[in-house]
Order: sequence, then structure tokens, then C-alpha cells
Amino acid sequence: MSDKPLVVGNWKANGSIKELEAWASEFVPAKGVHAVVCPPAPYLARAAELLGDRAEVGAQDVSRHQGGSNTGETFAAMACDCGARWAIVGHSERRQNGEDDIDVRLKLLNAAAGGLRPILCVGETLEEREAGSLEEVIGRQVDMALTQRQLNLPITLAYEPVWAIGTGKAATAKQAADSCKLAGTLAQRRLGGARIPVLYGGSVKADNAAGFAGRDGIDGLLVGGASLKGESFSAICAAVAKSRPKAGAKPKSKPRRSKR
Ligand code: PGA
Repeated sequence: MSDKPLVVGNWKANGSIKELEAWASEFVPAKGVHAVVCPPAPYLARAAELLGDRAEVGAQDVSRHQGGSNTGETFAAMACDCGARWAIVGHSERRQNGEDDIDVRLKLLNAAAGGLRPILCVGETLEEREAGSLEEVIGRQVDMALTQRQLNLPITLAYEPVWAIGTGKAATAKQAADSCKLAGTLAQRRLGGARIPVLYGGSVKADNAAGFAGRDGIDGLLVGGASLKGESFSAICAAVAKSRPKAGAKPKSKPRRSKR
């Protein structure tokens, strides 16, 4: 995984081929930002074709099952065949629609086995936050989805408080950074390895993106509504690029030595 901040657009069940084409013609990549777009599954192949190397494409979900006798399911390897390189798993909207922690664990494993980088979503409801259960809830979601055997998988975590998704009420930058750090620490403890990247998601827009992305502990953003237009997603990517240390500034992590 590159050290660049990751900005992922989740279209949910929105869009059409026409809108995808308009999106692709509006989208301007930002230097130093790794952009990923997750359109609905039927549009993956066209999205990959239209975006080329300007952005990567991801699936919004993959099947928990394996094998052919599963009418209507999309397997990770199929999404990969269509050009997807990432997969969101455990999004709160899917959890609200009946997906449980075991489903999420299986989907994460299937995504990785099918050649996709899983983005594991975790987050608490407002009631849970107000009851002081943040750590318990995130801890359970992380523990149920991850085991030490996944240590070497290219997993990214997305902290998305349910109360901030699609509500226009984003977390404050401090709340987001504190919770992303907590989620990252819990995942690292569970996996027993190095820190994995953590994204913040929930009512991210062009005008608040830099405030999140500039915070220590936040490695990128997961964007829903504001990713639907190529122009606004580009503005978010540009804001993220601006919020990071300029070239020549001391890098956050050690530069890799080139092999001789
Ligand atoms: P939102 O959605 O940006 O529209 O709040 C985020 C998400 O669901 O990933």
C-alpha cells in the first residue's frame, strides 16, 4: 500500500452509465492522493475502462459465499475480473440490512482471496456513543472481523460513525481523529502486527475534507454523497492533497531504499 492518503468514493445504489461517463469526464486526479471509486457492481467494468490509471475502482460489497449455486451473488474474483481492486465490507447500511459480524468476517476473507483489498467499515450509533460504548462496539466489530491469520492481508479500516453517515452532521475533526486512532489501535492489537491505514467517513465534503485529512491518525477518507459528482470528488481529492505536508517536508514514514 502506498503512503499516499486514500480517498474512496462510495456511490451506494446511485448512478447510471450516463452519469458514470459524465463523472469520468469531470474527474481530475490530485497529485499525491490515491483515489478509488466504488460504483454499483454492474458499472465496475465500465468505470475501470473509463478511469484507466486516473483512479482505481472498488466493489461496495462481495458475497460471503463461495461456489456457483448462489443466485444473485457477486464474488470478489468476478469484481476483480471487472477491474475492481478494492472492496468495501461491513458498511453500516449493510449491517442495518441484516449483515452480521460473521458475514463481515467471511466477506473480508473472500474479498482478499478474490484479489481485492478489503476496506473494513466499523462505527457506532449515536446511542452507543452517548452510552459510552464506543470502544466496546468498535472492539467487537474489529475482533469479529479480524484474526491474526489475516496479519499479512492488505486491509484498510474505515471508521464511520453511523450518526454521521448521510446526515450532514460530520464528526468533529478531533472526534474523527480520536476514534480513527482508537480503531487503528484495536485492529493492530487484534492482528498483532503493524498499524493498518484508517479512513474517516461520514458527511465528508470538499469544505471539511482537509480538516480530517490533515489530522494525525487519519490516513484518508470514505465519501458517500459528495462522491457522486466528478467535480466534487475531485475537489475533495484536491483538498486532501493540500492538507498533507509539501514535497521536501520531512516525510511521516521512512523512505524506502531503492534496491541495488
Ligand atoms: P456520506 O456517506 O458521505 O454520504 O455521509 C459515507 C458512507 O456511507 O460511506
